[in-house]
This record gives sequence, structure tokens and C-alpha cells, in this order.
Amino acid sequence: MIFRSVKTIKKCLPQANSLFRPFTTTATATTTSSTNIAGTTIITPKITDTISGVDNPIIEKKVTTPPQPIKPVVLNGKLLSSHIKESIKKDTADFIKNSGITPHLVVIYVGDNKQIESYIKAKKTGCEEVGFRFTLDRFSSDITEAQLIKKIKYHSEDPSVHGIIVQLPLPENINRDNIIQAIDPKKDVDGLTSINMGQIMVSKKPLFIPCTPLGILEIFKAYNIKLEGKNVAVLGRSNLVGRTIATLLSQKDMSNPSIMGGANVTTFHKYSKSYHHLLKNADVIISATGVPGLVKKEDLKKGVILIDVGINYKEDSSKKSGYRMVGDVDPESYEKSIAYTPVPGGVGPLTVACLLRNVLKSSILHYRIQCSRLRAGVENNIVDKKEKDLKSDNKNNQ
Ligand SMILES: NC(=O)c1ccc[n+]([C@@H]2O[C@H](COP(=O)([O-])OP(=O)(O)OC[C@H]3O[C@@H](n4cnc5c(N)ncnc54)[C@H](OP(=O)(O)O)[C@@H]3O)[C@@H](O)[C@H]2O)c1
Repeated sequence: MIFRSVKTIKKCLPQANSLFRPFTTTATATTTSSTNIAGTTIITPKITDTISGVDNPIIEKKVTTPPQPIKPVVLNGKLLSSHIKESIKKDTADFIKNSGITPHLVVIYVGDNKQIESYIKAKKTGCEEVGFRFTLDRFSSDITEAQLIKKIKYHSEDPSVHGIIVQLPLPENINRDNIIQAIDPKKDVDGLTSINMGQIMVSKKPLFIPCTPLGILEIFKAYNIKLEGKNVAVLGRSNLVGRTIATLLSQKDMSNPSIMGGANVTTFHKYSKSYHHLLKNADVIISATGVPGLVKKEDLKKGVILIDVGINYKEDSSKKSGYRMVGDVDPESYEKSIAYTPVPGGVGPLTVACLLRNVLKSSILHYRIQCSRLRAGVENNIVDKKEKDLKSDNKNNQ
């Protein structure tokens, strides 16, 4: 079994009882193992049911629980992300105290799309929650590629900036790759420059892993989902999500615990022909296509784990906004799964939490570089400064 149930079995107790009516049943939960979800210990109970037969009260027999509909576990990205953010907030306060540096994220955005603005707002709120600085550098769609590159270079060289994100997609007249490569890889908190992507490809530890794949790994780790030797189907092959998570999960070197490997990964994309029957082989499906309802119940094997990355909007007159957010997975599929990420509240919040973690990591990295340059300067008598002076310099530069 690749999955250790979280609260499922406890939740299923009333269900188990109703199954055995008109018998009297006593379900005993014995603690057998525990799982740690970001500081919260989750107990995995083992259940034995004792059934007292009503027809024949003399017989009291112990039976193994017959197959029963187990409610799938909701892989709660929202809860997990709030635990991660709490720990980032604490680490940030310590870091600011010791270094005088306030982590600073800059988001570069071209356009005026309301939905994209809501993603930017989530990043801004996340930064405020953990004590970071946040700057939105916004441009109208008539900006040229050269002007945008100049802006990125400016932020790349600004010592008060620790993370730079270019909010995608970009207008068609701008080459996305040229823009991303202009970001200093040491500030590339989205992990999309060729240096960071390349490190993943050659199984080295990159400075930054793209935030959504990182969020998916967080779910696997928190819920103790082991993937070695398991069949994983990845739908979508973008650098931002599909290709990166597929590469990470199929790594040969599994010594780095932050990068899971060892899975048998199959990737599907727009040109994959009639592949849906192949999904029946998958123990885990990760869908990142932006096609609502693409993953359907009839294509799945029982007990699959569903990770739904898709963010799509469907008209819904019952909502104030007139639409509601849906994923790539048809919700009817959940009943065939053993666990799934909901939309909203699954992968999305973790993407933001992992972005914040990358920004803090980048800030620490920049501080270390500052300190080692300072030490080298002092040793060579180039500067006459002490590390404590650096802290007040940093404070003044913010
Ligand atoms: N939850 C989050 O935090 C988060 C973060 C990032 C993205 N997203 C969402 O995830 C989805 C994907 O994002 P993205 O940036 O990766 O998008 P993208 O760059 O547009 O990539 C979509 C991928 O899906 C593939 N695809 C399209 N139709 C398909 C089909 N019928 N069967 C199999 N593959 C198909 C495409 O194939 P080709 O390569 O052949 O075109 C492409 O590789 C979007 O809904 C996006 O909003 C969510």
C-alpha cells in the first residue's frame, strides 16, 4: 500500500457501523503508526470490528472487516500551506533580526487580466502574512521585449531585491524565454531559468525548484505517500509544472530527500493519442493541462491518488463573481480514488507557500554571499568592516 490513511478510518467509523445494522458493532481503533503533517501528528488506527449477532445472541464472533466504501482522503493543501507559512514567518522574523534584511519579492506583470491579478494578489497577501516586502512592477501590453529585459536586469542588480517573478503568460509579441533568462538565477524564485531547470535535469540540487512541483512534493511528503516503483501519469509537459514534476519523480538519485525519485513516470500531452485507457495503469495521476473535466472516473483504477493542478473557470450564476474555479479532474472521479487534492484548496495554496520559502531561501543566500565577500575583503585588507556593520548597512538600504 503506497498510502497511509490520515483521518479516513476515523471518519469512516459511522459508515462502518451503518453497514452492519441490525447488528450491534463495536469498532476498536488501535494506534499502529503515526504520520507527521507539518508538526501535527496524525494517528493511523487499525480497526477490528466485533459483531454481536442479533439473530443468534450466543455467537459472538470476531470477523475481519468486509470490503467497505472508504471515503477518499482530501489532501488538504490549504491546511498544509498554513503550517508552512507559520514556520516561514518565524524564520523570517529571526532572519530580519540577525541580518537587518527584509526578504523582498518583485513580481513583473504585463497586462490587465482580472484572473491573473487574483494570483498576484495571493502572492502579495502571502508576502504580507510572513513579513516580506512585496513590489508589483506592472506594465501595459505595449512594452517592448527590450524594455522589459532592461527592467528585469535592473531588479536583478538591485541588492534590496531577493526574488523576481515574471507573471505568465506574457503577450505574444514578447519572447517568454528571453525574458525568463534575463532573471539572475540567484533571484529566480520560480526556478525557470535554464540554470535552475538544467540542474534538475542533471539530478543536481538546483538553487530553486519551480513552486508548483515543489508544492506537489510537499503533499507527498506530508501525507507519507511513497512513489518508488509506482506508476505515475503526468498530464501536461510545461516547465512550470508537468515536465518538472515528471523529471523530479523519475530521478535516479533518491539520496536528496527534497527531490523524490524512483517512480515510473509517463507523460501525456496534446498530441498523445487516445491515451485515456492507459491511465488505468496509474497509481498516481498528476494533471496540469488547463482542460476542465479531462480526468474522468471511467479511466481510473480504484485506489488511484489524484493530484489536480488545473485551474479553470466555469460559469456559475449562483456565485457572486458569476464563475467558479474547477480543476482538470472531474469531481465524480474522487469516489474511485484513495486520496485527491480538491480545487480550490489543494495544490494552489502550496504553490504560494513554496514561493515564499524560495524567497526566504534566496534572501539567506544573498546574506551569506554578502558575509563571505566581506570576510574575503577584510582578509585582503580591502575593506575595514565588521559583520555587525553589515546589519546596519542592510537596514539603511531597505
Ligand atoms: N494550482 C497552481 O498553483 C497552478 C500553478 C501553475 C499552473 N496551474 C494551472 O495548471 C494548468 C497547467 O498550467 P501550465 O502553466 O502547465 O499550462 P501550459 O503551459 O498551457 O501547459 C499545458 C499542458 O497541457 C497539455 N495539454 C493540453 N491539453 C491536453 C490534453 N487534452 N491531454 C493531455 N495534455 C494536454 C499541453 O500539451 P502541449 O505541450 O502538447 O501543448 C501542455 O503541455 C493550468 O490550468 C494552470 O492554470 C495551477
